[in-house]
Amino acid sequence: VPLPFQVGVPALEAFPFEIWNRILHRYLKKPSRELLFYGDPGGYMPLRRALASYLTVARAVRCTPEQIIVVSGAQQALDIAARLLLDPGDQAWIEEPGYAGAYWAIVAAGARPVPINVDQDGLNVQQGIARSPRARMIYITPSHQFPLGTTMTLTRRLELLRWAHKSGAWVLEDDYDNEFHYASHPIASLQGLDQSGNVIYLGTFSKIMFASLRLGYMVVAPDLVDGFLRAKAVTDRHCHTIEQAALAEFIIEGHLGRHIRRMRTLYLHRSQVLINAVEKYLGGRVELLRPDAGMHTVAWLPLETDDRKISQLAAADGLQILPLTSFYQKTQQRSGLILGFAGYGDHEIREGIQKLARVLAKVKTQ
Ligand SMILES: Cc1ncc(COP(=O)(O)O)c(C=O)c1O
Repeated sequence: VPLPFQVGVPALEAFPFEIWNRILHRYLKKPSRELLFYGDPGGYMPLRRALASYLTVARAVRCTPEQIIVVSGAQQALDIAARLLLDPGDQAWIEEPGYAGAYWAIVAAGARPVPINVDQDGLNVQQGIARSPRARMIYITPSHQFPLGTTMTLTRRLELLRWAHKSGAWVLEDDYDNEFHYASHPIASLQGLDQSGNVIYLGTFSKIMFASLRLGYMVVAPDLVDGFLRAKAVTDRHCHTIEQAALAEFIIEGHLGRHIRRMRTLYLHRSQVLINAVEKYLGGRVELLRPDAGMHTVAWLPLETDDRKISQLAAADGLQILPLTSFYQKTQQRSGLILGFAGYGDHEIREGIQKLARVLAKVKTQ
C-alpha cells in the first residue's frame, strides 16, 4: 500500500475499473487473430491514431500516428533513446535536481550525465552550454519539472531549442504528468515549438491510469522512426496488444478524458487540503510551494535541516517522504521534502501532516 506522501501515486481508488475491466474482458474473451499474433513494434495502430489526435489537440505535438511508438512506460522510451542516440562517453545534460530514471538510462548507455541546475525559469541553458558544450542530449521535464514543479518559460524553451538546433543535440522531452494543471492551460510542448526534428517527446499512462499497466509512448521525427522501431523490436518485439486494444477503446469512447477531468478536480481539492493542513500543523516550519500542476509539491526546509534524517524518522512513523537532496547529483543541495498528494484522501493527508509535525518537532529538539 502506498504510504503518504509517496510521489507519483494517482488516486487509484477513483479509477473506473468497472469500465476498464468490461472493455478488457471483451477483448480477452474473444480475441481476434490479429490481437493474438505478433503485432507492429510501433504499437496497435488504433491506439497510435488515438494518441496522435490527443497529443495534437492537448499538447500541440506535431505528429502522424506512424511517428508514435508505444512503449512499456516512459522508462523504456528513456532506455531506447539513450542506447540509440548516445555513444559511450557522450555527455548528456540532466536536470539538477532531477529524475533518477533518466540518469540511470544515460549511465546504462555508457554515456555521462552532466547535472545542470534548474532555477525559477526552468533548466539553466547558459549553464549547460558553459558546462557541457558538446553534449549530445538534453533530458528535460519542461511542463512540470521533476521534482521542483517549475514550468519552463517560453524564453528558456526557445533558448534551448536554438542551442539544440545549432549543436545538433537531441532533446528528450518527458511530459510525464502534463494532464494535471490547475491554474491555467499548460504551455505547449517543446516538440510542437521545435522546427528541427531534434525533440523526442515522451508520455506515460502511469499517472493517468496506473503504473503497473506499463504503457507509455514516444514521438520521434520521421527520419528516426525506422531506427526506433528496430530498437523496440530487438528489445521486446512490442507491447501487449490486448491491453493496447482495450486502451484505444477506453480513449476513443471518452472514458480516459472523463477520468482525467475528474482527477484534475480531485487533485486540486487534495492540494488545497494539503496546503490547509500544512498551514495549520506546520505553520512556519516549512515553506510549501503552492502546486499549480502535477501530483506532488515541495516543502522547503530551513537551510541547515537534514532532510534525509527527517525522511528516515517519518518512515518509522508510516510516512514515505522523499528528501529533496536525494534528487541532486552534486550541486546546490537545498533541503526540502517532496510531498505527493494525489493518491491520498483528506483524512490521510491531515493525519500525515500531523505526524510530520511531530517528526519535525523531534528533529528540532535533538
Ligand atoms: C519524471 C518522470 N518521468 C516518467 C515517469 C513515469 O515512468 P513510467 O512511465 O516508466 O512509469 C515518472 C514516474 O514517476 C516520472 O516521475
